[in-house]
Amino acid sequence: MLETEQKYEFITGDCLTEMKRMGDKSINCIITSPPYWAMRKYDNAENEKEVGNEMDYRDYIKVLTDIFMEAKRILTDDGSLWLNLGDKYNNKALMGMPWRVALSLMDNGWILRNDVIWNQMKGTQSCKDRLRDMYEHIFHFVKSKKYFYNADEIKVLPTLKPKKVNGQMISATGVSGKKYRKMIVESTELTEQEKENAIKALDDTLMKIQQGEINDFRMTIRGIQRAWHSEDTEISGRAKELRDKGFYIMKMGASGFLPGDIWNIVPEDTWRKDSHCAVFPEELLRIPILATCPENGIVLDPFSGTGSTVSAALRLGRKGIGIDLSEEYNKIANNRVKQFANTLF
Ligand SMILES: C[S@@+](CC[C@H](N)C(=O)[O-])C[C@H]1O[C@@H](n2cnc3c(N)ncnc32)[C@H](O)[C@@H]1O
Repeated sequence: MLETEQKYEFITGDCLTEMKRMGDKSINCIITSPPYWAMRKYDNAENEKEVGNEMDYRDYIKVLTDIFMEAKRILTDDGSLWLNLGDKYNNKALMGMPWRVALSLMDNGWILRNDVIWNQMKGTQSCKDRLRDMYEHIFHFVKSKKYFYNADEIKVLPTLKPKKVNGQMISATGVSGKKYRKMIVESTELTEQEKENAIKALDDTLMKIQQGEINDFRMTIRGIQRAWHSEDTEISGRAKELRDKGFYIMKMGASGFLPGDIWNIVPEDTWRKDSHCAVFPEELLRIPILATCPENGIVLDPFSGTGSTVSAALRLGRKGIGIDLSEEYNKIANNRVKQFANTLF
């Protein structure tokens, strides 16, 4: 484990064995990409501990499940695990391997919060009777329902802002409220009281746009539009609001919104020349680290390869531990991080 002043460490060894040496709840966040099943041998030629060489895919799932149960023990109760896995065709059939592993972790108590699709933007054309493979999964797991998540750190600021046109304030996408006002006044569905309430809510919303509190809005009025997702009042709170109040307003905050679960990021191994393994682009690590590891917290990558996770953690003001079987990769990782680590926090 890290000494008080130590910011990072690369450990050479089998991750299960090494994690067993670590204390309970001593790591804030784990981000990793284990070798995919039956894809390639890494640098560890004959090392029987190398993951991914199991003859039977069920053994691969079992090995990874054991590793991530140990990971769970060393993770703080509010910690997160981000697991990147790619799929595999076997005897012509797509195996669904990432989901097989994810389901096994869920069956063993991990809570799945997101299945992020990493769109790698450039698929390889390996055969002519199916589409190109373009994406991999990044699963976000947590240990408990309440976990550390700093949403403000990763919010995307709206690119469009409300503005004044001909002396009148309009929302980021050009909504002035005129059309909604007309719909309310002319409605044959709303009672007089509902109309009054709807106009008041519309005016309040327009005022918030003017004051810069919200960026945009959409109004739904009973009898004119339907609830967006479901009209079933048992299922949808919006549908219930529409039935009971006659309208609802969806507001888009001015402070931004959380990124979606499809990330368009070109993989890095197109331009890193010193390694043979699938290297994480550091951009991919930004959201997991900023959102789920507190400042000065510890990020662990139990299959750290060239050290991308530790490198990104340090750049973002967190500490990092990498474990890899390969001494060669740990050398690359150490050289990569040594160059800048002392100049940071
Ligand atoms: C996909 S690569 C990780 C690449 C890494 N994300 C990066 O950005 O460079 C998987 C790594 O797992 C390592 N590995 C395989 N079995 C292992 C084990 N039992 N314990 C620790 N590392 C292992 C391999 O040596 C390889 O470096």
